[in-house]
Amino acid sequence: MEPLEPGKLPTHLAIIMDGNGRWAQQRMLKRIVGHQRGAETIKMVVEQASLLGIKYLTLFAFSSENWSRPAMEVKALMALLKKYIRQETARMMRKNIRYNVIGNRSDLPDDVNATLEDAIRETSGNTGMVLTLALSYGGRQEISMAASRLARDVAAGKIKPDDITMELFSGYLDTGGLPDPDFLIRTSGEMRISNFLLWQLAYTELYFTETYWPDFTINEFHKALADFQSRERRFGKTSDQLLNRGSLLNA
Ligand code: IPE
Ligand code: IPE
Ligand code: MG
Repeated sequence: MEPLEPGKLPTHLAIIMDGNGRWAQQRMLKRIVGHQRGAETIKMVVEQASLLGIKYLTLFAFSSENWSRPAMEVKALMALLKKYIRQETARMMRKNIRYNVIGNRSDLPDDVNATLEDAIRETSGNTGMVLTLALSYGGRQEISMAASRLARDVAAGKIKPDDITMELFSGYLDTGGLPDPDFLIRTSGEMRISNFLLWQLAYTELYFTETYWPDFTINEFHKALADFQSRERRFGKTSDQLLNRGSLLNA
């Protein structure tokens, strides 16, 4: 496995877990079998991320657009989600992991919501990694809903229009309180963001792999993290500024 420098891991890692359906179809299996195998990859990634000391892990599990998939697939995904949360909560407690959810919770079936509610409550005192599940999540929806909540506070006189800053606005998003992701991994070869964390990904390092999510292994995970460690995040500055040495021009 790739050697990793403990001090240079992403504080917040976000993952677009993609390719479950194609993984299954390639094997003449039903798409849901791919989702089931994908849940095994989630267990591995959660365990590894927590072992490595990553503080925040955010997984895109179901998008607002995914509601338009065949009803059978949506139903099976919701059932799988509920089963996963139920099964994994004890392990989350042992590993000191706290559950968090972003997205439109009210769209989810009542039983799924109740299961999530229990898991969030049960793990709320945990102080280790924060595992955020993006469920019925869409970045544009999140931003417009944040704008609407903010507009209400302005109308109520709690905030003046001139007081609106990027930091203040960030606090109105579902991710308020979470740092922006440092690193985003997307599996399955698609090179797009698919409406995930649009605001928060402004300066995130992106990593794409052809591997389908059910085939994503510990080795690949470490390879992705090693790739992150080799990058220089400049945030608009020059390389010399970051290395704290004058360039030839301003020396
Ligand atoms: C990702 O796998 C899981 C969800 C979106 C719920 P997909 O189901 O999108 O798999 P592909 O992209 O069709 O292969
Ligand atoms: C993004 O994957 C959503 C999740 C991983 C949950 P999709 O498979 O839905 O995205 P598109 O349709 O390929 O953009
Ligand atoms: Mg997909």
